[in-house]
Amino acid sequence: MNQYLFVLGRKFKISTQEIKTVFQSNKIAEYSSSFLVLESEKEIDTKLKINRLGGTIKIGKVIKKCGEKEMIAIITNFLINKYPENKKIKFGINVLNFPLRNLATYLLGVKKALRKEGKGGRFINKNLKNTSLPAVIGEGFLKGKGCEIILAKTEDSYLVAETEAVQDIDKYSLRDYQKPFRDAHMGMLPPKLAQILINFSEVKKGEIIWDPFCGSGTVLMEGLLQGLSVIGSDIKKENVEGANQNLWWLSKQFELPQNYQTFVHDVMDKLKEKIEVNAVVCEGYLGKPKKSLPHQKILKKEIAFLEDLYEHLFVNLKSVLKEGSSVVICLPCFKDRGKYIFLENVLEKIKDLGYSAVALSEARRGSLIYDRKDQIVGREIFKFRKT
Ligand SMILES: C[S@@+](CC[C@H](N)C(=O)[O-])C[C@H]1O[C@@H](n2cnc3c(N)ncnc32)[C@H](O)[C@@H]1O
Repeated sequence: MNQYLFVLGRKFKISTQEIKTVFQSNKIAEYSSSFLVLESEKEIDTKLKINRLGGTIKIGKVIKKCGEKEMIAIITNFLINKYPENKKIKFGINVLNFPLRNLATYLLGVKKALRKEGKGGRFINKNLKNTSLPAVIGEGFLKGKGCEIILAKTEDSYLVAETEAVQDIDKYSLRDYQKPFRDAHMGMLPPKLAQILINFSEVKKGEIIWDPFCGSGTVLMEGLLQGLSVIGSDIKKENVEGANQNLWWLSKQFELPQNYQTFVHDVMDKLKEKIEVNAVVCEGYLGKPKKSLPHQKILKKEIAFLEDLYEHLFVNLKSVLKEGSSVVICLPCFKDRGKYIFLENVLEKIKDLGYSAVALSEARRGSLIYDRKDQIVGREIFKFRKT
């Protein structure tokens, strides 16, 4: 049985749910907020998968489960077997879920053990800290010029894994910061989160998704990269034009077919265009941009407006979705002294309209929250199915 270790992103609950959805596996062991382990009879093409997963930072293949004292010998033997011809072996070590101060012991221990076997060893960990993604990529580790080892502590043992694939940070920042149309006032959906939303929808290659709040088109761009046909609309003409520019730019950059369509549309209105889609995936309108939480009365009014907007959306979506199709949507939630104020009434209304909620978490509302510490408006992620 193959075991793969997934190093999770900052929002580990979202990352975990994404892995569960993509692999549809019950052989997942969750150990800590930083990693999980997936068992698979078949080999996983980790280099291909990492480009599809927005919430996973690295994927390693487990070499061995062991006790603490055996780790140095296991790593040393692994490196010698992997690079039998090399006089000097380049490596790096990352520790997860146990104290960073132990790292020096392993780095120096492996170096010493390699020397005993007549080999030189050089580690790339700077200042005896965990390896960084740019160092792993820059040193050519993913092209066979060295090897990163992950050491992860579980309840009763340690896992030693070899890093096989890491997130392509350069490609993410290219499509995030180099796209021709950006509007900072609109609030920027990170491409990684757009990927996660698409994965939650469970659409397959070649299928069609619609983002009815497309803005600059982040969801559409990630959809196109995943081999989907994408449709985008927005109430603002300049956003639709901007999304179009971004999609054209992306299709040239990544040599993708131009399977996209965009139009101006207010979700409050009945749709004039005749479209049929496999899923709706979107970050909805999050309300007026805010520097601080407005007065209770004003916020109440805005929440009522947003609930009405989303009710209309779900009424109108019924004509474009087939039975069983999913809607993955980020709704706004507002942070008040560490607690969230949600669009409390909207869930029941959506269910009454003929949708069932698919729980993404064990939380009361079955949702997942994507936020940053300093943000007043968070994104509450939901999944629904048309019944
Ligand atoms: C949070 S932004 C989405 C940003 C987008 N995910 C992106 O990548 O740029 C919400 C978008 O909803 C649009 N919007 C607001 N009210 C709308 C409505 N009634 N119908 C359609 N779009 C609307 C806004 O113009 C804005 O572009």
